[in-house]
Amino acid sequence: MALKVALLGCGVVGSEVVRLLDEQSSELAARTGTPLEIGGVAVRRLGRARGTGVPPELFTTDAMSLVTRDDIDLVVEVIGGIEPARSLILAAIKAGKSVVTANKALLAEDGATIHTAAREAGVDVYYEASVAGAIPLLRPLRDSLAGDRVHRVLGIVNGTTNYILDRMDGLGAGFTESLEEAQSLGYAEADPTADVEGFDAAAKAAILARLAFHTEVTAADVHREGITEVSAGDIASAKAMGCVVKLLAICQRSADDASIGVRVHPVMLPREHPLATVGEAYNAVFVEAESAGRLMFYGAGAGGAPTASAILGDLVAVARNRLANTSVAEGEEDSALPVHPMGET
Ligand code: HSE
Repeated sequence: MALKVALLGCGVVGSEVVRLLDEQSSELAARTGTPLEIGGVAVRRLGRARGTGVPPELFTTDAMSLVTRDDIDLVVEVIGGIEPARSLILAAIKAGKSVVTANKALLAEDGATIHTAAREAGVDVYYEASVAGAIPLLRPLRDSLAGDRVHRVLGIVNGTTNYILDRMDGLGAGFTESLEEAQSLGYAEADPTADVEGFDAAAKAAILARLAFHTEVTAADVHREGITEVSAGDIASAKAMGCVVKLLAICQRSADDASIGVRVHPVMLPREHPLATVGEAYNAVFVEAESAGRLMFYGAGAGGAPTASAILGDLVAVARNRLANTSVAEGEEDSALPVHPMGET
């Protein structure tokens, strides 16, 4: 019997999810153990849904009815933002559906409510696409490193700002021109403020810190500074010193291990540093763990297809769990480490 998927949102990422579900249907069915079928697609306005290849009768503007429908097994949320995403996800969880979401803003603001609801309902919430697009990063942090002790997570988690800084450094391009290019390539959020002011990276840093340190962290705990104040002169000065400017997310334990610090701000990196060579809209994240040592994750951090890849990976995982009748809902936070936005480096 097929598993039915409700898709919330059909923009750049959602329509790519639709395309890949169709194009790879037999491989996905073989890997999952059963076909994955779209049971409905919720959109804000019906007219915008044309051209996705989804039969028109599957589109609806009534997302709440869709996520609570008896025949729906799994829900994919790619509408973003806090509401109505939070209410829809909580309703889906309460109705026993497992959820795959790319919603970093919601997880960084109110992940605790979502995870608690999932645990109570015995369903999965997977969110690999919420941080660093296609890069497998969250499940390695949550699962593969669950037996280790993470000391630091450090990386480039916003493709738009990396693209802008890379163009400013390499071509001497201006900020506005580089931002427009990033937007035309589909990297930037609808409102570029989230990218250039560091809100997007701060939300991702909160999600990374929570998984790395097993303690609740919200975006409000993250010290944040974007790249709008980085001038062509700053880039040139960095260059003269053999450095590049990168917007980094830094999550780490304090020296006395009593707290953690999470922050996002521009950093001057020596050109030989591995993160300095990360160009265009790529993302890269270092994880430093006690036993594993230094690990580096690198790849496409934004864009429709890379983000859809992470979503489909999660979809296969939650579908397999569903078929095996197991949920791997995240446990209670086991550490009460206080979070200090300006923790020591
Ligand atoms: N605007 C984000 C970025 C998209 O540029 O990284 C992916 O989260």
